[in-house]
This record gives sequence, structure tokens and C-alpha cells, in this order.
Amino acid sequence: MKTIFISGASQGIGLAIARVFHAAGFQVAICARGAEKLAEAAAEMPGLHTYVCDMSDKAAVKALAAQLNDRYGALDVLVNNAGVFLPGKIHEEDDEVFETQISTNLHSAYYLTKGVLPLMQATKSGTIVNICSIASIMAYAAGGSYAISKFALLGFSKSLREEMKEFGIRVLSILPGAVKTASWDGVDLPDERFIPAEDIGKLVYDLYSLSGRTVVEDLVVRPFMGDI
Ligand SMILES: NC(=O)c1ccc[n+]([C@@H]2O[C@H](COP(=O)([O-])OP(=O)(O)OC[C@H]3O[C@@H](n4cnc5c(N)ncnc54)[C@H](OP(=O)(O)O)[C@@H]3O)[C@@H](O)[C@H]2O)c1
Repeated sequence: MKTIFISGASQGIGLAIARVFHAAGFQVAICARGAEKLAEAAAEMPGLHTYVCDMSDKAAVKALAAQLNDRYGALDVLVNNAGVFLPGKIHEEDDEVFETQISTNLHSAYYLTKGVLPLMQATKSGTIVNICSIASIMAYAAGGSYAISKFALLGFSKSLREEMKEFGIRVLSILPGAVKTASWDGVDLPDERFIPAEDIGKLVYDLYSLSGRTVVEDLVVRPFMGDI
């Protein structure tokens, strides 16, 4: 059975990706900080493996990677999805806003990937998907440190792609615009202005399913009516 691990997947985009791969017969493993929502996901998807892990904590991420290596061996698919959006402006925000987003959105992917890569490199196969953002390529006034973290995540993804070519590992970056998730709670706009999270789930599965001879490198996905 093929194995996928998705970080930050007890709700939102990560959960949508988990659902599609679960339906396709994968062993799906996910993490989040909150045990309650992980349990809800496990109740919905028989056989789902869940891990409580704060992905902003380097030591916890390294311990998680060791657990994944022991339990699954080389992952077939790794999705670096865990992330937090704290709107703000660089010149106004507290230092913690910067530090939290860099550790949650960037360090998480860096350390988890480095932890599981050696086994994937040994098999000379696998797919790594980094959930970036439109904010990885576009600056906007309320982007603040979120944009810094997502620009950097795209840089990580592009560099890793080049490094992994000789190991047969595909590295994809998905750059979504506004996706209807809890991240947008309190924003008074109709659902029609958002990408459904299910579409990102389907997209990741379809890109994974392409021949190993093909990689969709950095994919921009927008709401049909454009950015919010
Ligand atoms: N929604 C959008 O419009 C949009 C657009 C572009 C990119 N993205 C990116 O897509 C990813 C998912 O976003 P989303 O909108 O689906 O978010 P979401 O609905 O807020 O869900 C975030 C998930 O990540 C987990 N999480 C948050 N912080 C974590 C941490 N420190 N350690 C482990 N798990 C953590 C959450 O569970 P716990 O809180 O229990 O930990 C939850 O399961 C993020 O990287 C985001 O930047 C989102």
C-alpha cells in the first residue's frame, strides 16, 4: 500500500487532500496540534493514522520524522501543508507574528522534509508537494510576514526540485489563491468567491497521478473571479 503524510491536515486543505488519497486506497497519515479534530478525521476515514505534533517546534518535527521513518519506511508522497495566516504589516506587527509564521510555514517543511528524505532518496522515487500561496509570488499590503514565509517556502520548493532530480523525486509547489477554509472565518464574502478545498485535494491527486516523466512545477490556482 502506498503511503502519504500530510502536515496540518485535521481540517481545511490538508483534510481535503487526505480524503482524496484515502478514497484512492492510500495509507494516509496526518498531523495537527489538536487531538480532537484529528479524532474526528480518523472517525471519518477508517485506517487513518494521526499524530499530534506542533510543526513549529523543530525538536517535535524531527521526532515526528523519525516516527514516520520507523513506521512506513520511505513515504510515497509528502505534503508540506501546515501553515498559519496572521494578517499584518511588517512595519507594525509584533516580532512573534513573524517568528510564528516562519516556524510554522517554513521551518516545518524544511525539517520534516530533511527528516524523511534519506529513505525516499534511497528508493529513488516519491513526490513532495509544498502548499505555497499566491502570497509566494505577489506582495499585498496586509501580507506582512505571511508573504515572507510563503516566498521562502516557494524558494525551498524550487531549490529542492533541482537537488532531487538525480534522485527521481518530484517536487511540486501549489500556489492557491483564496480557498474556503477556517482561515477565512469572519470574512463576509459568498462561497462563490473562493476555491473549494476539495478542488485542491483533487488537484494534488491528479498531479501526483501524472507519469513520473512529468512534473507540474509551480502551479497557480485562483478563484474563478480572481483574488479577493
Ligand atoms: N485557505 C487559503 O485561502 C489558503 C490559500 C493559499 C495557501 N494556503 C495554505 O494552505 C495551508 C492550509 O491552510 P488552510 O486554509 O487549510 O488552514 P486551516 O483550515 O486553518 O487548517 C490548518 C491545519 O493545520 C493545522 N496546524 C496549524 N498550525 C499547526 C502547527 N503549528 N503544527 C501542526 N499543525 C498545525 C491545524 O490544526 P491545529 O490547529 O489543531 O494544529 C489545521 O489542521 C497553509 O499552509 C496555508 O498557508 C491557504
